[in-house]
Amino acid sequence: TSPLKVALLGGGVVGTEVARRLLGRAADFERRVGAPLELTAVAVRDAQRERPGIPAALLTDDVDQAMAGADIVIELMGGIDEPRRAILAALDSGASVVTANKALLAAHYGELMAAADSAAVRLEHEAAVAGAIPIIRPVGDSLAGDEITRVMGIVNGTTNYILDQMDREGWDFDRALTTAQELGFAEADPTADVGGHDAAAKAAILAALAFHTPVSIDDVHVEGIASVTADMIETARAQGFAIKLLAICEKLVSEGRAGVSARVYPALLPREHVLAQVSGAFNAVFVEAEAAGSLMFYGQGAGGAPTASAVLGDVVSVARRKVLGGRGQYEHASTATLPVLPISA
Ligand code: HSE
Repeated sequence: TSPLKVALLGGGVVGTEVARRLLGRAADFERRVGAPLELTAVAVRDAQRERPGIPAALLTDDVDQAMAGADIVIELMGGIDEPRRAILAALDSGASVVTANKALLAAHYGELMAAADSAAVRLEHEAAVAGAIPIIRPVGDSLAGDEITRVMGIVNGTTNYILDQMDREGWDFDRALTTAQELGFAEADPTADVGGHDAAAKAAILAALAFHTPVSIDDVHVEGIASVTADMIETARAQGFAIKLLAICEKLVSEGRAGVSARVYPALLPREHVLAQVSGAFNAVFVEAEAAGSLMFYGQGAGGAPTASAVLGDVVSVARRKVLGGRGQYEHASTATLPVLPISA
């Protein structure tokens, strides 16, 4: 089968990790997809700067040139206007798109999904919410036959890391934020993390999927952690509480009418609460649904490798659809690549 051409837009922490894994594990991807995935270009801001693990010949600062002829476009640029333009152009050309861009999705969800539908291609975004944790598919697909009543949790790794380091290690805010940036958790502009807007974008996406209704970031009540001081954390701790930045999306009935409420704010949680135990840049999301009851999703919510995991899962998924069309359940699970070990007592 002829190779699928993959264009990558963005050479930041996640983009670099995605490129390295695509190049380094080409044989695994080919087996799982049924065709080779050929990384044809990586669009970056500065094509002259060396990126270890990415051949210089793949680097370009021209987004349209990078996307020309691509079967799959991976958008990890960040920002809103330029990635929106690029994604709409990619969908229009018949490429499937994988993005981790929560700010863009939270602002233009309906437009982008409609564009993907009318081009009859996929626009996947598992990495846009909670890093490595599978949450978009569970909420959007696996629970689509149920009635979700609430989605609640910690969906920003940077602020969780900051609050956690201040609480457990006694660090000051600036040291915790600088370290979060060095570890690759924070956004390029960390005010989106600190101000709660990153979590609000994720809340909007989760609410839209959970409640089958358009929800934008403007519909989300947002309070960040800028006003949380070391004193507040210490006082909370002394009284048996931890401060956590929570995102809460609920279906509420008010005056006899059902509606959706989404909000992000620093909350006091008893230290024995499961969410109070979520440390570092980990995320945790509870989903409550009428038939399923309560489900919990937990894992690494930020950082290059965890986010790349979710991006590459989407890439394999859209690539398999391209290769197999409507056919092909988990065909890769029926092709032997490893021996199954004998059962031992
Ligand atoms: N800056 C984000 C966070 C990255 O800290 O959660 C993952 O979306």
